[in-house]
Amino acid sequence: MSSRRAFLQQAATLAATLTLKNPSLAAAEIYLERGANQNAKQDTVQHYATPLDTSTLRPWVDPLFIPEIAQPIGSRPDPDDPSRTLPFYRLAMSEMHLKIHRDLPPTRVWGFNNSSPGPIFETRSGHGLLVEWANELPTQHFLPIDHTLHGAEPDKPDVRSVIHLHGGRTPAASDGYPEDWYVRGQSRIYHYPNRQDAALLFYHDHTMGINRLNIYAGLQGLFIIRDEVEDSLDLPRGKYEIPLLLFDRFLLANGQLNYPVSPDPKAPWVPEIYCNAMLVNGRFAPYLDVEPRSYRFRVMNGSNARFFRVFISQSGSHDVDLHVIGSDQGLLAAPLALKRILLAPAERTDFVVDFAPFAGQNLVLMSDGLQIMQIRVAAAPVKSVSFTAPKTLHPITRTPETQAIKTRRLTLDEIMDKVQQSMGMLLNRTRWSAPITEKPALDTAEIWELVNLTEDTHPIHLHLVRFQVLDRRPFDVFLYQDKGQLRYTGPVRQPAPEELGWKDTVRAESGTVTRIIVKFEGYTGRYVWHCHILEHEDNEMMRPYEVVVATT
Ligand code: C2O
Ligand code: CU
Ligand code: CU
Repeated sequence: MSSRRAFLQQAATLAATLTLKNPSLAAAEIYLERGANQNAKQDTVQHYATPLDTSTLRPWVDPLFIPEIAQPIGSRPDPDDPSRTLPFYRLAMSEMHLKIHRDLPPTRVWGFNNSSPGPIFETRSGHGLLVEWANELPTQHFLPIDHTLHGAEPDKPDVRSVIHLHGGRTPAASDGYPEDWYVRGQSRIYHYPNRQDAALLFYHDHTMGINRLNIYAGLQGLFIIRDEVEDSLDLPRGKYEIPLLLFDRFLLANGQLNYPVSPDPKAPWVPEIYCNAMLVNGRFAPYLDVEPRSYRFRVMNGSNARFFRVFISQSGSHDVDLHVIGSDQGLLAAPLALKRILLAPAERTDFVVDFAPFAGQNLVLMSDGLQIMQIRVAAAPVKSVSFTAPKTLHPITRTPETQAIKTRRLTLDEIMDKVQQSMGMLLNRTRWSAPITEKPALDTAEIWELVNLTEDTHPIHLHLVRFQVLDRRPFDVFLYQDKGQLRYTGPVRQPAPEELGWKDTVRAESGTVTRIIVKFEGYTGRYVWHCHILEHEDNEMMRPYEVVVATT
């Protein structure tokens, strides 16, 4: 365990009243337990001001906040066909103060069009749209920038932004390349053709070196694409479809956001953050009134580092059945009955819950030991409609491995200094600024073997594409580090059933080779792939890649 991470875990234990063990971090868990029994030295906790004791806040007093649907402000010519027009949106990033809970003073956050999380886009497959992303942020950042990180050097302006549509099949020029950031007073118009299946995507900041801070401040929002396949299924819709953007934040007693820092004021970066307040749509412990019928939940993990294991509990005893119908990139082949779903940062799930059997009861949406939202089911009407899950949803053809024209073995590495402090993470031992090494050809498939040499699970995301998870297999990490030899130490594990749909983010587990098969479709150009633990991404666990024209 690196001492920076240890410090962080220890401080979090002292400060937080609700301590969730992160399923990704076995080693950290052990430390956490030890840390809880240790007396921390005064000087290590001083950075934390007074943390909020969330147990003093009365839960379930605010109704769930659901961001508004983004509305176009006009239309503009379609860049792909100027004889047609596309809806034109303008979203301005700015600072605002909002009530996270009834009994807290307003919290300073950043958001879009005066909403944080930002407004929700709703569009259809093949219906392109244009967005002007305007930077109207303040002149100063309110979170601790680490100027020793690549891309955040002292000569870079503190306040910068660039927006990426996560999961979008987007032309490179509109993808929000991390170095395409711009400053206050500027904007960019991005084109999203949306030629892809129905899915829950999300937009978020992607600025080189400070992406973790900009997103933590609030620069993210959901983006829903619909299509005919989804229409043809009898799924709950309208007010019966509930978007839930989950993330944790470190709140101080005065209601303000705090971003944890290392003990070194010159290099405040920390390798991961785990916070004291679980928020849903940016609010603490709200309630949702539901009718005793079925609802569809579109859930996304927007945390910097925390993994959620989502379930709905009936008076703490019993988990409610979730009919899981979708993952990152849309509908599964068929519904799955599950009780709990693991979501790493950036992963999405889509499930239907039938509340008819729970009429008149209060349920709680939870993640491991943490309560997130109360669900109040109204008393039964005369006739309650109960839910029958469709037998099939959306055909998914498994890409045969024989289709791959190339296999790339790519390591996930952690660099430590002499005293075993984490200095950051790398992909394939290569820094961001090194020349591009991954150049897949358009319309070809490749297998990427993610060889995880670190002690963490890393949610690995590729821009532009959707992919399928092939399998996972444990290997001998020491032998690989010593001799570069890959020796498996256990049997191949198939992906979990909920991972068998199309994905854009995959959990690459510690000491494991995770294999994915990817077809590079849509556009040529320069994109990125990275770990979606934002602290890792900001400290070198991100690489450019380029889709090139196939040479025959
Ligand atoms: Cu959520 Cu680079 O993306
Ligand atoms: Cu992305
Ligand atoms: Cu990572």
